[in-house]
Amino acid sequence: MSLRRVKKGNIPWIIKYRPRTIEEVANQEEAKKRFLAWFKQWLEGKKPSKRGALLYGPPGVGKTSLVEAVARQYRFELLELNASDYRSAEAIRRTVGVAARKKPLWGRGIIILLDEIDGIAPREDSGGLRALLEIIPESENPIVMTANDPWKDQIRPLHQVSELIPFKSLSLTQVIAILQRICDLEGLECEREALRYIAEVERGDVRAAINDLQAIAEGYGRVTLTLARLLVRGREKKYEIFQTLNQIFYADKAWKARMAISNSQEDYETVIAWLNDNIPRKYEDPRDAYRAFDALSRATIMLNRAKFGGNWSLLNYVFTLAGPGVAFARKYSQISRQRYSYPDRIKMLARLREVRETRERLAQKIAEGVLSSRRLVKREILPFLFIIFREVEDPSMAARLALGYNLDAKEVEFLAGPRAREILQAIEKIKKARREQRKPATSRAEREEKEVEKKAKGAARKRRRTRGSSTTLDSFFS
Ligand SMILES: Nc1ncnc2c1ncn2[C@@H]1O[C@H](COP(=O)(O)OP(=O)(O)O)[C@@H](O)[C@H]1O
Ligand SMILES: [Mg+2]
Repeated sequence: MSLRRVKKGNIPWIIKYRPRTIEEVANQEEAKKRFLAWFKQWLEGKKPSKRGALLYGPPGVGKTSLVEAVARQYRFELLELNASDYRSAEAIRRTVGVAARKKPLWGRGIIILLDEIDGIAPREDSGGLRALLEIIPESENPIVMTANDPWKDQIRPLHQVSELIPFKSLSLTQVIAILQRICDLEGLECEREALRYIAEVERGDVRAAINDLQAIAEGYGRVTLTLARLLVRGREKKYEIFQTLNQIFYADKAWKARMAISNSQEDYETVIAWLNDNIPRKYEDPRDAYRAFDALSRATIMLNRAKFGGNWSLLNYVFTLAGPGVAFARKYSQISRQRYSYPDRIKMLARLREVRETRERLAQKIAEGVLSSRRLVKREILPFLFIIFREVEDPSMAARLALGYNLDAKEVEFLAGPRAREILQAIEKIKKARREQRKPATSRAEREEKEVEKKAKGAARKRRRTRGSSTTLDSFFS
């Protein structure tokens, strides 16, 4: 699957992928049935005995989405109110009270949505609840409320005037399916296991799961289990680090950059490691990068003194140096849109296993190609490949080798390290050139390629005959 760049500043996916139809609200069949039964009475011009409907259930399972979809599908106007509109009895009369008597401007009717009604003032004497209990039974328009816990004291009395409609939490598989759909539509590379991990951590909260997905995708361009494990950690900590980095690199005020460090959920070393790796990406001008690194290195010194000398007031300097010190080092560089890279140190730890596996796979592949043992490949060939992939200036040599051995992106990454991108690009270029060669004069290019193939097969046969003696890479340089 192709990997489309996710641009910054795009609309949140929870909005982009909001269900547009009733049908698209997944796995809430029972709730839909009950809600529509109540709503159909309004449609037919009869007013149900209970003029309110209280949709309840855990967050992020489609309550608001269903109301919006129903309004859209039946061409009802939707008047959405939220907590700030029902802070007091007075506010409720002014908004809900007025809306309850309103005639539609264009639609067949009006749905009044009091989203997250649990936000209503909890104190008995606020009178907010009493106002609602007066308004709902008299309402000319359907009043729909949503809540997580309908038995909370301040909203329980609403049961008298509203139909109770429960929403259930979505299962793991259902959440995974929703995430997978978004990955497909975004053309995003998503590991199944990563989606499972997100769904597990968020326990049926689709909104939170989609937010995680977007945060990882925007931060890193693809969604892998390793990333999900590192970034999605329960409610508070998740994708905090990207926020912290943004707050520093895009700070307009010194105090904001400072606070980004002091309030970060990550420990200071981790934040510094992230900054360290991302300064060169964000600051293209070396003068800026120099100043930023300078500030950061002093921050590190201060942090060590604070930790080992026990003088914690030095943390003040750490915050100032790593925050505003880095933030305002930018003088000549444009704000770069480059995606954050993963700090090598952290990446190495997380990936150790993955790296080991990749190395084994690679060794196996090459061993088959050159007819020798994996051990021999690791000892004799890999070191040369590292040099070719990392040191040789012309990337096309490594690219041709990669094509010859049919290496995948992970294996190229393993061999090329920081140069992986460059070499992957070179591979694409060669592939494209080969395709183009083939297009106009198929015959000749094809003939040539067949010939090369034949030769390679012949060579392999020969090698098989003289097994073990030939580990040469020459054939791939032709
Ligand atoms: N049942 C569902 N089917 C499809 N998408 C859902 C479902 N529940 C939630 N979502 C996704 O999560 C987001 C938040 O859902 P929302 O309806 O606002 O949840 P709630 O009101 O229950 O807290 C939606 O934009 C949608 O993308
Ligand atoms: Mg909602």
